[in-house]
Amino acid sequence: MTHVAQEKWSSGTAFLLAAIGSAVGLGNIYRFPYVVGENGGGAFVLLYLGIVAFFGIPLVMTELTIGRRKQLPPISAFTALSEGKKSQPFWKCMGWINVLTPLGILGFYFVVSGWTLNYVYSMISGQLNNLVEGQTLKVFTDMQQSPLTLIFWMTISLSITAFVISRGVKLGLEKAVKILMPMLFLILVSLVIYSAFNGGMRETFEFMFTPDFSKITGKTVLEAAGQAFFSLSLGSATMLVYGSYLPKKESIPKLACGVAFADTFVALIAGFAIFPIVFTNGLELDSGPNLVFVTLPIIFDQMPFGQLFGILFFLLLAFAAVTSTISLFEPAVSNLEERGILTRGKGSLLVGIGLWCLAAVSALSMNILSDVRLLTFSDTVASKNIMDILEYMSANAMMLINALFAGIFVGWVMKRKDVLEELGLDDSLLFKFWRVIIKVVVPVVISVLILQLFELLDPLMAFIL
Ligand code: TRP
Repeated sequence: MTHVAQEKWSSGTAFLLAAIGSAVGLGNIYRFPYVVGENGGGAFVLLYLGIVAFFGIPLVMTELTIGRRKQLPPISAFTALSEGKKSQPFWKCMGWINVLTPLGILGFYFVVSGWTLNYVYSMISGQLNNLVEGQTLKVFTDMQQSPLTLIFWMTISLSITAFVISRGVKLGLEKAVKILMPMLFLILVSLVIYSAFNGGMRETFEFMFTPDFSKITGKTVLEAAGQAFFSLSLGSATMLVYGSYLPKKESIPKLACGVAFADTFVALIAGFAIFPIVFTNGLELDSGPNLVFVTLPIIFDQMPFGQLFGILFFLLLAFAAVTSTISLFEPAVSNLEERGILTRGKGSLLVGIGLWCLAAVSALSMNILSDVRLLTFSDTVASKNIMDILEYMSANAMMLINALFAGIFVGWVMKRKDVLEELGLDDSLLFKFWRVIIKVVVPVVISVLILQLFELLDPLMAFIL
């Protein structure tokens, strides 16, 4: 096989911008506020912060280490690092799963990022002006019922992403995040300031930071962990590939903390942009996925400069989504390029076409194909359409499995000395603590989460006890 040398980020800052761009996405601005709302606020936020600190940061370090050690994308990286081991075929297979997982995520992510583009357009054209309650819901459901609208905006979102990828690491990815990330930050800050002037900050503080632990159940823990992993772009080759472009002199622990900190900060800030508006208008916090697309437009319509605020808000979502779809698209192309199978341009085109088909099926599962069921092994999955199953399998199941095996790989398969060298740490207490988390705590906890996800935990406990 002809290995093709990979490009590198031009600096640690470029990596940081791209990795934060990957981490900050629909997960932070669309999903985080509504899961916090659904799960009752404070206790969930605290749990989330704990998971990011104890599992998130160590796992980001783990994935960056696998990627940077040989500066190779997932399949080659796992294969090269397990050279001479009997388990090598298994790890090669894990490399494959790592590359396929983000494609599954993109199957639904492109559809939702298409919604955000559609809403930018609807806001600008005034289609969301003068609507009363109930009508914004109709706009949202009408969009979901229209295959053409969904596919049109999904195609735009996919084409922008494929174009950026086809231009390569420095000219494509780096350039895109250098433009988009500062804009994203500016918009976010102006939205929070705007929200602060409209009241509701005190209620937001209380809601987000007063924990009511009676709200925590096994399901909440699973939800918080899933949200944290998704938000940090873990368990799906993204961090691994971004790490493989990272120059050797940059410190992985520092950068991992930077990414996790920025990602969490943006999620919290998104709460502070959204909740005050919801509080001052006496609306429901627990409207789930409808929070951003149905509840907010009602309020934008009534606020001073609401239309401008609305345009900025959906633009923010769209920017956040693009920098994330880029990171989900890159692993497959990087893999094809490095293994000498296809050039970057052809690879982007081929992966783009495949993903278009997948995302189109996922868009149609909201209308024409809404009755099709792929899995029926439990009541939970039997109620899910194709798009929901895609999300369940990739963004929950596969992501957890990949994170689990990334931990096992770095903890048990890679040489301690190599890991220490790659992290650039002394053989200190901090390193030992990290290693225990990765070797023991992560495998145990994630295994329990996987059992819980497939609803096997209760039967297993009943069997054991
Ligand atoms: N983290 C992004 C978000 O919060 C989505 C994302 C990008 C992602 N790359 C990923 C999720 C890799 C899981 C794995 O929206």
